[in-house]
Amino acid sequence: MKHFLNTQDWSRAELDAVLAEAAAFRQGKASQALKGKSIALVFFNPSLRTRTSFEIGAFQMGGHAVVLQPGKDAWPIEFELGTVMDGEAEEHIAEVARVLSRYVDLVAVRAFPKFQDWSVDRQDTVLRSFAKYSTVPVINLETITHPCQELAHALALQTHFGTPDLRGKKFVLTWTYHPKPLNTAVANSALTIATRLGMDVTLLCPTAEYALDERYLGWARDNVAESGGSFRMSHDIEEAYTGADVVYAKSWGAIPYFGRWDQEKPIRDAHKHFIVDEAKMALTNRGVFSHCLPLRRNVKATDAVMDSPQCIAIDEAENRLHVQKAVMAALATQ
Ligand code: CP
Repeated sequence: MKHFLNTQDWSRAELDAVLAEAAAFRQGKASQALKGKSIALVFFNPSLRTRTSFEIGAFQMGGHAVVLQPGKDAWPIEFELGTVMDGEAEEHIAEVARVLSRYVDLVAVRAFPKFQDWSVDRQDTVLRSFAKYSTVPVINLETITHPCQELAHALALQTHFGTPDLRGKKFVLTWTYHPKPLNTAVANSALTIATRLGMDVTLLCPTAEYALDERYLGWARDNVAESGGSFRMSHDIEEAYTGADVVYAKSWGAIPYFGRWDQEKPIRDAHKHFIVDEAKMALTNRGVFSHCLPLRRNVKATDAVMDSPQCIAIDEAENRLHVQKAVMAALATQ
């Protein structure tokens, strides 16, 4: 049984097939792949796009989605093994995942890191526990990676450039300022898919402390060895933007400062100039700009960039619907 926890677990042929099917959905193809089937969407964190697009996508394919928010409208869940459950949690993941598997055909999970100890967060315990105990396929709705966003971004680029072959495109993943230290998930994912698709990828960030986790840097290096792309890190804004075909923005907290964010804040505050603006975009090769959304205007990117024809963030958001339909169809019919 196949899950969709990370794109890195799927072969290039499988990803290409999902993207081709998603492109067909984007063109209006109809499917009843979920007819008579259902999906549980388990949200430990808020969402606009993910929740809406999964619910609508399941509906459009003849299926039904159930949204559960543990600790709000569903019981709080314990994930530790062997623990004496005399705290907040009313039930254990060992029961939750197996019970849900008796009701639904797919289980999907959003569980952000706790941002206190990266060595704990990087274990992805909530998602991995669902995958361990579920007897139906599990989909990652964003934990420490965001594979559905990766595919939506890839489809947006393929549509913009008019070809599924993105090799040779110069892709810049730029860190941007945000008042809070955010999840590294989308950055990890952007790096993963851009290198997988053979682009020439630059990770632009203020200092080496903003490098992503070695697991994802390793995936990037492995991917370019196979795909023929390239990967490097830069702290030079002008040099990184010059000639870029794609600028993808995301803010994230520096991993060495997990749990002591008060010490990271002055560094973050000193790099507000990483905002994506017209002057930086003018350095690109008439490049496109995108972001996973939600985005704070005039903090991460200016109004002018967001409202420019170069911005494909809305197309990328639409693509969440198409790629997730393709993923659900592939998993539900395996
Ligand atoms: N990009 C994204 O996942 O959006 P939501 O957090 O609104 O689901």
